[in-house]
Amino acid sequence: MNNIPVREERTLRFHILRHNPQDSESVPHQQVFEIQEADSMTLFIALNEIRENLDSSLQFDFVCRAGICGSCAMIINGKPGLACRTLTRDLPEDIFLAPLPVFELISDLSVNTGKWMRAISERLETWVHNRQEEVDLQQLEAPMEQSLAYSIYELERCIECGCCIAACGTAQMRDQFVGAVGLNKIARFRLDPRDEREDTDFYELIGDESGVFGCLTLLGCEDVCPKELPLAAQLAYMRRKMASV
Ligand code: SF4
Ligand code: F3S
Ligand code: FES
Repeated sequence: MNNIPVREERTLRFHILRHNPQDSESVPHQQVFEIQEADSMTLFIALNEIRENLDSSLQFDFVCRAGICGSCAMIINGKPGLACRTLTRDLPEDIFLAPLPVFELISDLSVNTGKWMRAISERLETWVHNRQEEVDLQQLEAPMEQSLAYSIYELERCIECGCCIAACGTAQMRDQFVGAVGLNKIARFRLDPRDEREDTDFYELIGDESGVFGCLTLLGCEDVCPKELPLAAQLAYMRRKMASV
């Protein structure tokens, strides 16, 4: 006999923070939508159902629906997370959704993480730096130890979703703070033997309160990272390195 409990059909109430800063008449407010829960329903499915059947003006972002592109991050019952990877069955009947803080609000649940991430990449110069005039392709493409390659590419699994920034008290207080995502990017290039920057060069980029010394070890970043990156270990490693410069 099959003893799998039958789950009661639930009516879900979505409390969504609505605001369009482009519209001078728009006032931030919460709007409630009710829908019936379906099997294996994700927030992606639920939000699309709301937009298709209840309010076509609701704005939110999705691209891959598979936890890869990072575009669907939002505050879900008080905690940053990916809407496409969140099942409604793991949430109560009342679901509160809000846009990620810190990033520029486009409208409703849609924020401009791309603009923020690009600015951080430019500021931290997240590309391999070569000191020679002419790039030595052989040296650039020389095989590296597998364990080193693994450590570098482990950090490259970041999908730039912005959850770590939204969960970080320092990022919300200091607008210049590069956050766990920025420090993770720098750690990746510091590990890379093809990058010829010295510790002093990295110190100039992150050796102050907008970088490693601004981090208060609050650890919200690691708790919410959907890719489970070892952010706390990277932060501690970079802090040790920069303290010895
Ligand atoms: Fe998202 Fe994690 Fe990258 Fe932060 S470090 S942007 S939480 S994937
Ligand atoms: Fe923020 Fe993470 Fe540091 S939450 S304060 S970057 S440990
Ligand atoms: Fe791409 Fe959610 S839609 S991560």
